[in-house]
Amino acid sequence: MAVERTFVMIKPDGVRRGLIGEVISRFERKGLKIVALKMLQMTREQAEELYSVHRDKPFFNDLVKFVTSGPVVVMIVEGESAISVVRTLIGPTDGRKAPPGTIRGDFALSIQENIVHASDSPESFEREHKIFF
Ligand code: CMP
Repeated sequence: MAVERTFVMIKPDGVRRGLIGEVISRFERKGLKIVALKMLQMTREQAEELYSVHRDKPFFNDLVKFVTSGPVVVMIVEGESAISVVRTLIGPTDGRKAPPGTIRGDFALSIQENIVHASDSPESFEREHKIFF
């Protein structure tokens, strides 16, 4: 067990739907700490770098278009086992399959427009947060 940091992004659908406070408050209520935060409009280059592991997937172009379609909120979240704890709070990628009680389970009905992104490993955190901070 160790204190970790993870990178979290509230995607354009979450911002458009007024869910910034809801998402952040779930992390805070869990006991996690927001140690950096900003709202920005992602460039195409930043989106392609963030999702570079998906470059060859059929949904890549749509995904880049979606995440650059409006402002996002990027943050660094800190706490005990933050990477896995945040992934659990968020739920599985597909909002239709995510269990109630998770952010995606409560607010998403789509696999693409799923409110929030979070790093899946310490290596992803290192790469992802440096794109924005
Ligand atoms: P995220 O956790 O940010 O990681 C990659 C993103 O790609 C994912 O959330 C979704 O927004 C999107 N994604 C993953 N799988 C699919 C898919 N099959 N079709 C469309 N978008 C997808």
